[in-house]
Amino acid sequence: MFESLSGQKVVIIGINSGVDLAIAKKTAELGASVVLSHYSQDKLNEAMESLPGEIETKTVDIVHEDSVNAFFEEIGNFDHLVVTSMGDRNMPRSLLAEMSTETAQGAMQKFWGTFFAVRASLKNIAPNGSITLTSSVTIFKSSKMGGISVIAAANSAVALFGRSLALEISPIRVNVVAPGLLEDSSIWSSQGESERADLTKWATTALPVEHLGQPEEFAQAVLGLITNPYITGVVLPMDGGVTLL
Ligand SMILES: NC(=O)c1ccc[n+]([C@@H]2O[C@H](COP(=O)([O-])OP(=O)(O)OC[C@H]3O[C@@H](n4cnc5c(N)ncnc54)[C@H](OP(=O)(O)O)[C@@H]3O)[C@@H](O)[C@H]2O)c1
Repeated sequence: MFESLSGQKVVIIGINSGVDLAIAKKTAELGASVVLSHYSQDKLNEAMESLPGEIETKTVDIVHEDSVNAFFEEIGNFDHLVVTSMGDRNMPRSLLAEMSTETAQGAMQKFWGTFFAVRASLKNIAPNGSITLTSSVTIFKSSKMGGISVIAAANSAVALFGRSLALEISPIRVNVVAPGLLEDSSIWSSQGESERADLTKWATTALPVEHLGQPEEFAQAVLGLITNPYITGVVLPMDGGVTLL
């Protein structure tokens, strides 16, 4: 269904969740050479146990500019960049009245990490390549739980950064995926058993698609954006229809 990625190199920043592993697996299946990255080599080694052998691993700490610059220097030329790093787990929820400056600045790291990675990638990315960033459904729909104002701001910054760059750095294509709740992600793992059961029940009864997002579904959205040469500047909701509710 997707165009072959044979002869192309895909760089993925982030690994912990099933989401990143599903993207790595699918891009490798399409023939790409894949560089998978995370700040911990131990975690990369662990991830490799469930992935095909031709995937290369490299450490990078996306929130540190020097680490990101050195990472892209080492990688050399490549075709596609996918950034999923820095989920909401790294962005503690807090009501504004109680929010410390440190918490707010921590939440904005998602934007800064994305900025460092995209800027450093420009030296070596192919002109007909693509960049796919990850935002969140929080940019379209707020949570009644509250406490996500700065998380939403960071995700909005990522989304508008991507859309603006689609013009500025064309013909490189830039797109953004805005997922809703995904199973087998770090947010999902951080929930207790009864919360997970409640979320599954909610998805089955309330969401138009009657299930929670799966890592493979996220990977399919990313692959569509990577391989379709006519898509750029898009912020793609991938949320099971939650924004319709
Ligand atoms: N999961 C959801 O339901 C959901 C909903 C809406 C939006 N999203 C977005 O979708 C993306 C993927 O979600 P996720 O839940 O899979 O996120 P995640 O696991 O929290 O983060 C993705 C990856 O980034 C890595 N990472 C964190 N800090 C890093 C750093 N400084 N340098 C390099 N890598 C770093 C994480 O490693 P560690 O885990 O080892 O720290 C993890 O491997 C995120 O951008 C998230 O905001 C997710």
